[in-house]
Amino acid sequence: MDGLPMQVPREGLPERVTIYEVGPRDGLQNEKAIVPVGVKAEFVHRLLDAGAPIVEATSFVHPKWVPQLADAEDLMTALGDEGRELPVLVPNERGLDRALELGSRHVAIFGSATDTFAQRNLNRSLDEQYAMFEPVVRRARDAGLDVRAYVSMCFGDPWEGAVPIEQVVAAGRRLLDLGARQLSLGDTIGVGTAGHVRALVAAFEEAGTPRDRLAMHFHDTYGQALANTYAALESGITTFDASAGGLGGCPYAKSATGNLATEDLVWMLTGLGIEHGLDLDRLVATSSWMAGELGRPSPSAVVRALAGAAG
Ligand code: HMG
Ligand code: MG
Repeated sequence: MDGLPMQVPREGLPERVTIYEVGPRDGLQNEKAIVPVGVKAEFVHRLLDAGAPIVEATSFVHPKWVPQLADAEDLMTALGDEGRELPVLVPNERGLDRALELGSRHVAIFGSATDTFAQRNLNRSLDEQYAMFEPVVRRARDAGLDVRAYVSMCFGDPWEGAVPIEQVVAAGRRLLDLGARQLSLGDTIGVGTAGHVRALVAAFEEAGTPRDRLAMHFHDTYGQALANTYAALESGITTFDASAGGLGGCPYAKSATGNLATEDLVWMLTGLGIEHGLDLDRLVATSSWMAGELGRPSPSAVVRALAGAAG
């Protein structure tokens, strides 16, 4: 498919964006099968080789809560020095201790904008989640680590329905106030639409959070992830989470399916002439290989189109 997509830049959009790859973490945490640690390490290496600037590797959560990532120590050991620079999820001090023991330099806490999801995902109320994160961020910062914060259910919640924008901004700002550098706004169940995205970014800006501290984390459950990404680009957002092949979901949010596929994002950014640094052919080869390992076709439209074109 040489020459495609044709590059036709559009004025008013950022010149370059950072793609924050979450495939090995968000992608694999929801798989039915347990993926062997060697396959996970190869997945991470192939993503780095494809030019991914950031690859979130795994989670130091309770192994009973997410058995798919119970091998976090083994994976980080297998990744060696390279692994220390890759972000990992830590919900609490126990998770931070595990990450510090392996020399992690980047950690991410993950809060909720709604009380129900905080209970289901973290076994904590909304207020208790901040109390759990406070020492994590303080100790991580004291140790010189970089801290990202996620806020989930930014657009809607399967139990509570529509989530008011002010509620999301309040939750996000509390997580940033703890000392996180970046806030990733999660559409955990993929129900957001483009106008909602713009309104949410504007509300954060009005509350004093500049857009360069925000990232967007779209799941594609309702097929809105690319449209929402475009709306966020128009709002000046320059960091986007995506998952190779469109894998992903959250085991504690019913109806959460795959993340925005990295390949679909790369296709759109390339067409718009926006720099991203990833090699699409290598990505597609990686996701096709991973689909074989998982025993099912990739949910990404671009992977299916290009893998089909090659075959
Ligand atoms: P809990 O049961 O309340 O834990 O779970 P606890 O603090 O009461 O401790 C109970 C026992 O667990 C203790 O052991 C702890 O040491 C142990 P005991 O003394 O009984 O022997 N423990 C741990 N062990 C290993 N690692 C740990 C850990 N913590 C406690 N980190 C907890 C609370 C937060 C641990 C649990 O709810 C949990 O692990 N939740 C994680 C759920 C998860 O990973 N969800 C998916 C990620 S979020 C997501 O996908 C959304 C996102 O993509 C953005 C979006 O899409 O919106 C980020
Ligand atoms: Mg997610």
